Amino acid sequence: MAEKIVIASGKGGAGKTSFTTGTALSLAKKGYRVLVIDFDIGQGFIDFVITGEYTSLYNWGDIILGNCDIQEVINEKNSVGIISAPRKWNDAYTSLKLKNIIYRIEDDYDYILFDSPAGVSGGFKLAAECADRAIVISTPDEICTKAAVSAVDELSECGLKNIRLVINRFNRVPTTKGRYYNIDEVIDAIKVQLIGVVPEDREISYASSTGFVAVKDCPAMAAYGRIADRITGKKVPLVLSNSKKEKPKSKGKIAALIALILIGAAIIALVAFGIYNGMIKPKEIFDIVSEKFFILIDKIKALAENFISKIHPEEIKAQLKTAFSFLSGE
Ligand SMILES: Nc1ncnc2c1ncn2[C@@H]1O[C@H](COP(=O)(O)OP(=O)(O)OP(=O)(O)O)[C@@H](O)[C@H]1O
Ligand SMILES: [Mg+2]
Repeated sequence: MAEKIVIASGKGGAGKTSFTTGTALSLAKKGYRVLVIDFDIGQGFIDFVITGEYTSLYNWGDIILGNCDIQEVINEKNSVGIISAPRKWNDAYTSLKLKNIIYRIEDDYDYILFDSPAGVSGGFKLAAECADRAIVISTPDEICTKAAVSAVDELSECGLKNIRLVINRFNRVPTTKGRYYNIDEVIDAIKVQLIGVVPEDREISYASSTGFVAVKDCPAMAAYGRIADRITGKKVPLVLSNSKKEKPKSKGKIAALIALILIGAAIIALVAFGIYNGMIKPKEIFDIVSEKFFILIDKIKALAENFISKIHPEEIKAQLKTAFSFLSGE
């Protein structure tokens, strides 16, 4: 029998779909049988996020409405089963009917992840009522954290006791206090046990347009992998890595600075050597440098004159007048 986990957040865009996808692919890579069910009615495109293609012909609403059979609705891609969400709400969608559908397939899977919509809409409630446990996603900003508290309350009201927290888009660069929290502050505010931290990672932003299957190893995927291990009960240390992409950048900047200093030092050494051996006269160097300097100043002057000559004050005044009258609605 599969363990059914709802992925929720209070605020939209916290990273539920990315987390569901990354974690499902990680669990599948570790040999677990995984199914993802999209509960984001009208907004979810989980098939595209996972595969980079719109693969689903049917959704779970079609089973309830009698349009297709349960097996026709499951898309198996990259060892992850996918069931898409209906495009429109229908009052026939009840947790009882969904539980019945899940009951018929859950022996085929180890984990079933429910990607839910933001907030506490119908789709969220259905997912919560069908789940055994929940993972709440929050970014470390104040609004998302506050909204996560409401999501946790709703999940508890749906009878879920096993609720864990994922802090997403964690960035170790300190930002303004009061608007962004550190890890302890997020946990204190939401009052839920932490199951993992996912760093800010550009690979994940790209994945939204290409599909996660195209994503190579990156810090966020590694974080999803560690959380997948914790979901399965393994003890894995918490890693607060920043995006791998950003590290070589700063290393590259330092290397470029060192290279510039070395080149400068080599030029100075060569000039000093030339002067010392009488090959270059100091006056010659002064002449070259001052000549180049004056040529540069002349060029800047010419550019500035050219720029000023193209400005017509009357024309600018007329343009500004039109803009102001447009803004004031005249
Ligand atoms: N760790 C991350 N690093 C960088 N970008 C991220 C990360 N997690 C999510 N994103 C980006 O944030 C955006 C929202 O993510 P996602 O769609 O997963 O959120 P969601 O909670 O499912 O949103 P919704 O509430 O609309 O369903 C996407 O563009 C995604 O690529
Ligand atoms: Mg989503």
